[in-house]
Amino acid sequence: MKVAVIGTGHVGLVTCATLADAGHEVTGTDADGEKIVRLIRGETPFFEPGLQDLVRRGLEEGGLSFSTDPAEALARAKVAFICVGTPPRADGEANLLAVERSATDVARHATNDIVVAEKSTVPVGTAGWLRLTLTRERPDLRFEIVSNPEFLREGKAIQDALEPDRILVGAESPEGFAAMRELYRPWTERGCAMVETDLATAELAKHACNAFLAMKISYINAVGQVAERSGADIVAIADVMGADPRIGRAFLNAGLGYGGSCFPKDLVAFERLAEKLGVEVPLLREIARINDEAVAGAVSKVQQALWNLEGKRVALFGLAFKPDTDDVRFSPALGVARALIEAGAEVVGYDPQASENAKAEIAELETAGDAYAAAAGAHCVVLCTDWPEFGNLDLVRLKETMAYALVVDGRNLFDPEEMRRAGFGYYP
Ligand code: UGA
Repeated sequence: MKVAVIGTGHVGLVTCATLADAGHEVTGTDADGEKIVRLIRGETPFFEPGLQDLVRRGLEEGGLSFSTDPAEALARAKVAFICVGTPPRADGEANLLAVERSATDVARHATNDIVVAEKSTVPVGTAGWLRLTLTRERPDLRFEIVSNPEFLREGKAIQDALEPDRILVGAESPEGFAAMRELYRPWTERGCAMVETDLATAELAKHACNAFLAMKISYINAVGQVAERSGADIVAIADVMGADPRIGRAFLNAGLGYGGSCFPKDLVAFERLAEKLGVEVPLLREIARINDEAVAGAVSKVQQALWNLEGKRVALFGLAFKPDTDDVRFSPALGVARALIEAGAEVVGYDPQASENAKAEIAELETAGDAYAAAAGAHCVVLCTDWPEFGNLDLVRLKETMAYALVVDGRNLFDPEEMRRAGFGYYP
């Protein structure tokens, strides 16, 4: 099937690569011409395990192409995916300008009746606006609007796209469902379930999922605060909770909390949307407040360990918002870095992938080539991102290189007993 993908960010590019891999004829387009030029050369603009190989294979085999010209991408396309960003406005509401512009592009350049699929996370009701925009521009064409939200995790996006837990399709016509069934046949033939709903249900389900996952993290962080003050072990509590299948162990890792381009923005956007519909959900605000507290809590542990921060050197292990990505958007690690720098500390960070992106955000942040180099002469290490390599560090070497052997573990990655045995002042 001929598919156009508007927007080649994380979601769009993974969509391009995996649909081409499934045998579709896919063309990606983006307002950022430089990004397209790089993609044509097979260079992916961000780190995502497996993505570059899949893009190169698609380009070589011919199923995948990129163009700066939306007309080229849309010519003869049966489906157009809208995968552009929905960043927060000042009050947190999702800014849908890029979605509207994409719809206008689709309408102007479509050469035939077309299915328009929202993949970006959008507030419920966006499909109605899409329909209006498309038909205003091109009353001569028939548009089927479909909501097909992604559930990709950065760092595991290819795996999630190739083997999703479910494919969610919201549509309003048999034609819309039929097109999505055909497109995802390679998936459903492998046994992947397709959940079919109306448009509003699909749109709202995505926000509901992200807010629920964020709630699990904030819940365990709130319990973690009580555990800390009562001498209980939060990791063991999470294990006990997780053994109950009604709860599940996933997303119960207490620590610095969530970041990234999705949860922080989606939570506020969801709250604004509910307000617009006349529903107050203070729970959503509370989830975000607890999450903000997690960064402040880690900074205060550093303060308690070091007394005055002026003139002290603090090493951050991990700068990305989570492992397996170079993404630092809303990264708790950067929150820690900013607060420590503000308080007068020298901050040096090491991340296997995200050092450059972090440095671009915070000029005063020093970066180092590995964990030991970052720790050299440091008075305290803060583990900010749970990259597996930090779990395999040589603790003797780490201790020897530091000025004071103090570790604040923002992800509960280290074994407290082992850290204490190795002679560290350890703050979980
Ligand atoms: C999230 C969702 O997991 C995806 O299903 C969704 O498609 C995506 O948002 C999106 O809306 O596009 P992502 O932001 O890539 O994916 O990251 P997650 O793996 O969900 O992690 C989010 C944050 O939560 C990270 O900062 C992570 O460190 C933190 N986290 C996660 C915890 O603090 N504790 C946990 O137990 C789990």
